[in-house]
Parts: sequence; structure tokens; C-alpha cells
Amino acid sequence: MNAAVTTPVTLGASSLGTRPGAATLADALLASPLGNVDTSNNYAGGRSEAALGEAIRRAGGLPAGKLVYSKADSDGDTGVFDGDRVRRSLAESLERLGLDSLPLYQLHDPYTIGFDEAMASGGAVPALLALREEGAIGAIGIASGTMAQVHEYVETGVFDVVLSHNRFTLVDRSAEPTFVRARELGMTVFNAAPFGGGTLANGSDTYGYHAMPAAFAAHLSRVRELAAEWSVELAAAALQFSLRHPLVDTTVVGVSSLERLAALPALIEAAVPDGFFEAVERLGPPPASGND
Ligand SMILES: NC(=O)c1ccc[n+]([C@@H]2O[C@H](COP(=O)([O-])OP(=O)(O)OC[C@H]3O[C@@H](n4cnc5c(N)ncnc54)[C@H](OP(=O)(O)O)[C@@H]3O)[C@@H](O)[C@H]2O)c1
Repeated sequence: MNAAVTTPVTLGASSLGTRPGAATLADALLASPLGNVDTSNNYAGGRSEAALGEAIRRAGGLPAGKLVYSKADSDGDTGVFDGDRVRRSLAESLERLGLDSLPLYQLHDPYTIGFDEAMASGGAVPALLALREEGAIGAIGIASGTMAQVHEYVETGVFDVVLSHNRFTLVDRSAEPTFVRARELGMTVFNAAPFGGGTLANGSDTYGYHAMPAAFAAHLSRVRELAAEWSVELAAAALQFSLRHPLVDTTVVGVSSLERLAALPALIEAAVPDGFFEAVERLGPPPASGND
């Protein structure tokens, strides 16, 4: 299997193309020294890849050392996610990005198909394996949320990368067994959404894009109180929890604007005492976040 080349931070482009200023943000993501860029065929209905592709063309090609990762998505109209769809998805991604190949292409949120269907001859996973063999993609991954599903794909041993989101954060550890298993299998671990989709940085009242169960919300409040007691910026602690963790190869953080991109270096460099993380651990295992 091929290892995926990673930077400690990966810049998440899922919201690129959903707000004004996409061209400027795409230019900035491409030029940023902070890390590689993560997108997908279906982010912003294809506008994330398109904006990155236009930025790549404006820059006269990918800057040296910069990688753009993307993902295969099911057909948006029919939900079909077979081998042919994976090949069409890659063709669309390459055309939008203006690239000949990608270093990493992941099976993204395979919710419209069962595991057996994905693995069967003519299915999505054999197509990814063939594309890796053909050299059109360097590495393949499983990128999804539901942990039982992600774990099943990890156990196949055919993927180079696992990406999970919102489930390995300062306040949620449900991805840990899967990350441990992935590491045993020699896989590269992408830990996405270190802010739980925003709340650990912007104080929004959802976690992992959903309303929080009461016990989880109470736990999060205690963590916020600890951050105040220790004079720690919660966003910095949340990002550094992932950056410091030995199970994580790269942390995929969502960059929604130029301002959010500009704020990242300070969050990465802020001093967060070990004592704060120890105090969070002493609260005990986090209750279920409502994400399965
Ligand atoms: N299935 C998958 O493959 C999958 C699923 C989820 C995510 N991902 C990847 O992971 C990336 C990250 O996920 P995510 O964006 O959902 O979650 P996240 O990284 O936990 O949260 C990002 C959000 O936090 C807010 N934020 C960021 N920096 C901030 C700051 N300095 N101060 C205050 N708020 C700040 C921003 O929202 P506002 O600007 O709106 O406040 C931003 O959109 C995605 O872009 C995508 O690349 C992949």
C-alpha cells in the first residue's frame, strides 16, 4: 500500500464555493504554507473543486510541494455509487482541478450503498484499487462519519488512509478504536473537524452538524469552564488536542474564510499547558455526542 504524504494541518475546503469570495480564498488556500488542501467531488456541488482548479490555473500550476486531495462521491441525482461512478467522479474532479492525477482519492460517505455492494466486482472499491494500480491516484482512503461503517472498510486492509470527522476531538473520542486499528494496518490517519464542525471555535450550539444531547452539552460546558479557569483559548486547545495526538497524522481543519485562515497560526502556536489537557481527561470519558 502507498502511504499518503501529509502535512500536520490539512486545510479543509468543504465550504469553499458556498460563500462570496471563493476565488480569493482558493488562491489563499493554495498559497498557504500551512498545509495541503482537502476537497471532494460534491463539496458545494462541485464549486469547491472548481474554485481550486481556477486558482491552480491562475498560479500556473500547483505550487511546489502543495498537494490537493479529493474524494469520490455518489451520483448526486441517482445515488448510484458503483465502479463506473467512481471513474466518472475522478474524471470530473481531474477536469475541475485541471490536474492529471491526484495523490489521494477517497471513498466519500458511501451511504447509498451497502458494504458488500461497494466491495463486489464492479463496485466502488475495486474501481479505486484499479485506479491506484493504473497510477491515476496515488493512495486511496475511506472518508466517512458513521464509525461502524468506517471500521468495516478499514478492516478490509486495502485502504491507505482513513478519514473520520468530529469523532476524535477534545470532547469526543469515539473514533479512537478505529484509528488504533488503522495504525495497526499501516494506514495514514486524517482527523477531520477538530472543532466539532465549529462549536469548539465559534461557540455554535451544534456539534458534528447536529443538536447536542443534554449530557454531551453539559460535558462541553465543563470543558469551557476549564478553558476559562486555565485562561486557554478553547479553539487553540481543540486544534492542538488533534495536532499533538500520536494517533493522528494530519488534522483537517475547516477554513471558511480568509479571516479563519489568518487565525490558524496563532491557534497552532498558542501555549496550552499540559495541565489543561490533564484536567479535561480527569472529567472522564465524554458522553455520546449524538453522532453514531
Ligand atoms: N466525510 C468527510 O470526508 C468529511 C466530513 C467532514 C469534514 N471533512 C473535512 O474536514 C474539514 C473540516 O470540517 P468542518 O469544517 O466541518 O469542521 P471543523 O474544522 O471542526 O470546523 C470548522 C469551522 O469552525 C469555524 N472556525 C474555524 N476557525 C475558527 C476560528 N479561528 N475562530 C472561530 N471559528 C472558527 C469555522 O466556521 P465559521 O466560519 O462558520 O464560524 C469553520 O467553518 C472539511 O472542510 C472537510 O475538508 C470531511
